[in-house]
Amino acid sequence: MKVLLATEKPFSPAAVSGIKDILTEAGHTLALLEKYTEPSQLLEAVADAEALIIRSDKVTEEVIAAAPKLKIVVRAGAGYDNVNLEAATARGIVVMNTPGQNSNAVAELAISLAIYMARNQFNPGTGSEIAGKRMGCHAFGNIGKLVAKYAHGFGMEVYASGRRPIDSPECDHPLATAEELYKVSDILSIHLPSTPQTKKMVGRSLLSLLPKGAIVVNTARKDVIDEEGLMAVLEERPDIKYATDVRPDNYDALKEKFGNRVFATPKKMGAETAEANLNAGLAAARQIVGFFATGDTTFQVNK
Ligand code: 3PG
Repeated sequence: MKVLLATEKPFSPAAVSGIKDILTEAGHTLALLEKYTEPSQLLEAVADAEALIIRSDKVTEEVIAAAPKLKIVVRAGAGYDNVNLEAATARGIVVMNTPGQNSNAVAELAISLAIYMARNQFNPGTGSEIAGKRMGCHAFGNIGKLVAKYAHGFGMEVYASGRRPIDSPECDHPLATAEELYKVSDILSIHLPSTPQTKKMVGRSLLSLLPKGAIVVNTARKDVIDEEGLMAVLEERPDIKYATDVRPDNYDALKEKFGNRVFATPKKMGAETAEANLNAGLAAARQIVGFFATGDTTFQVNK
């Protein structure tokens, strides 16, 4: 089978070579489309692909239509909001993610952003420590649990709320609602998936509940934030800081108004580690091999 690895933000050479080895050994052929700049390049490259591995690359209705032989798409990573599931499902294409494979990289980034903001982005002046503070995890999946574990290592107390009741040794205080969580979190770390239900979920009504001096860290998707609400709260509450993995749409305006109280990575950096590239990339290749060999659809997200 022809497997296309299409990554606008490429995996490390070691991960690409590992993916190639797994696929070749199973009798498949790897085609590479890296660092492409136009959606038309992806449309052209998928024309004869039977399987597709992507990262945050957008698999739109057009991409599906341009890939008549496509049977499986594996998002090497956790969030699959970049794949048009309806279009894939309508064509009988299996869509999978590789849950947990890059969680550690994202969790480490969340903790480092918290410290970076607590220390005023390492500018002169008095910062603060995270030890003894309350970490709040908004959603408690693979990443939230790791953030909680590392927060304990830093001497923090962990609070969390999620879609389902939380029963985990990593959470000291499971809370029933996001409102209760925001009221107590000195550092509020967002781990919500991007879904129609979570779009703009974090806005003025939640953020204005935060305790004095709180730091908000968003290593989830930017669309879970209501940017106007964020802007309003930063205006009303000069004590609050915001750090995010990937620029919000209104980043220039936020920077101009709030300077070092806000920080955004220029490109999504959560999963940008050698380890995460290998874990997610190799898992994606193995899942494709399993799918064609035995029909294994573990991790299918469009069942
Ligand atoms: C994910 O959903 O797995 C992360 O956001 C990583 O995205 P990336 O592969 O584009 O770095």
